[in-house]
Amino acid sequence: MRVAVTGAAGMLGTDVMQALAAAGHVCIGADIDDFDITSYRATESWLLKYNPDALIHCAAMTDVDACEAQPEQAHLINAVGSWNVATACCKIGASITAVSTDYVFDGAKAEPYTEYDRVCPINVYGSSKAAAEAMVAGSGAKYKIVRTSWLYGYNGRNFVYAILDKAKTGIGCLNVVNDQRGAPTFTRNLAVKLTELLTLPHNGILHVTGGEVCSWYDFAGAILSTAGSDIKLRPISTTDLNRPARRPANSALNNLTLENLGLNKIGSFRDTLDGMIRAYEEKQR
Ligand SMILES: NC(=O)c1ccc[n+]([C@@H]2O[C@H](COP(=O)([O-])OP(=O)(O)OC[C@H]3O[C@@H](n4cnc5c(N)ncnc54)[C@H](OP(=O)(O)O)[C@@H]3O)[C@@H](O)[C@H]2O)c1
Repeated sequence: MRVAVTGAAGMLGTDVMQALAAAGHVCIGADIDDFDITSYRATESWLLKYNPDALIHCAAMTDVDACEAQPEQAHLINAVGSWNVATACCKIGASITAVSTDYVFDGAKAEPYTEYDRVCPINVYGSSKAAAEAMVAGSGAKYKIVRTSWLYGYNGRNFVYAILDKAKTGIGCLNVVNDQRGAPTFTRNLAVKLTELLTLPHNGILHVTGGEVCSWYDFAGAILSTAGSDIKLRPISTTDLNRPARRPANSALNNLTLENLGLNKIGSFRDTLDGMIRAYEEKQR
C-alpha cells in the first residue's frame, strides 16, 4: 500500500515510518516543514500530489499544559487540522487512522475505559482531541480512531528520558505523582500495531495501549531499578505539582475491540526498558 504519515518527524510518527517500511509499504511522511495541517488547501494539495491509499495521522499539538495556555491554537491544530486531513483523505478516497488519547476521558471511572464509554475531557488538550475524533468520524472518510496513552519512545521527549535525566544529576530523592494511573505505551510497539490495523476492515474506535497499568511513581521505580540507580522516590499527589492542565486520575483503557477482533495486545513497558536505557546512553555519547 501507499501510506502517508502526518507528524512523521514526531516521537510516534518516526516509528510509524519505520514500521511501515519494514512491512513493505511505500511510505510518504510529512511534518510541519512540508505543510501545515491547519491549512486545508496545503493539506489537500500534498495529498493529491502523493495520492496514498491510506494515511496515519500523528500530527498534533501534544504539550498538554501548552494547550491549556493556548486553547485556540490547540483546537486549530488538533480539531480543525484533523478535519482538514480527514476531509482531504475522503476526497482522494484514502482511509485515515487518526491517533487519539486517553485524555478524552475525565478519569473518574473506577475501571479501565472501553471504546463504548462516553468522552468527557477535563482539559483543553483532551477536548481538542475529542473534537478531532468527531471531525474524523464525520468526514466521510473510511476511518479508524486509535486511542492510546502515556507514549514513550526513542525519538522524542518522554517520561523515561526525563527520569533518566534526573538520575544523571545525582539528585538524592525524586518526587513522582502516585495518584494518576495509566498504561505506558512504547511507540515502536504501537507503530507496528497501527501498521497491522491498516488492512483490518473495521471502521471506528480502538483502544491500543501497553499491557500493564501503573502510576507514574510505579513507572519511575521500574525505570530507575532497570537502570541500576539508587535514587529514592517520594510519592506525591497531582495537586502538589500545580500544573496548569488537570489530568485524569484513571487513564487506563480497556483494549476491548482489539480483543474482540482476535488481535494480540501490546506487552508491558517492563519488556522495553532495557532498550530505552541503551538508547538513552547512546544519545549521551
Ligand atoms: N505523547 C503522548 O503521551 C500521547 C498519548 C496519547 C496520544 N498521543 C497522540 O499520539 C500522536 C503522536 O504523539 P507524539 O507524542 O508522537 O507527538 P509529537 O512528538 O509532538 O509529534 C507530533 C508532530 O506533529 C507536528 N505538528 C504539530 N503541529 C503541526 C501542524 N500544524 N502541521 C503539521 N504538523 C504539525 C509536530 O511538529 P512540532 O514538534 O514542530 O510541533 C510533531 O513533529 C498525537 O496525535 C497525540 O495526540 C500522544
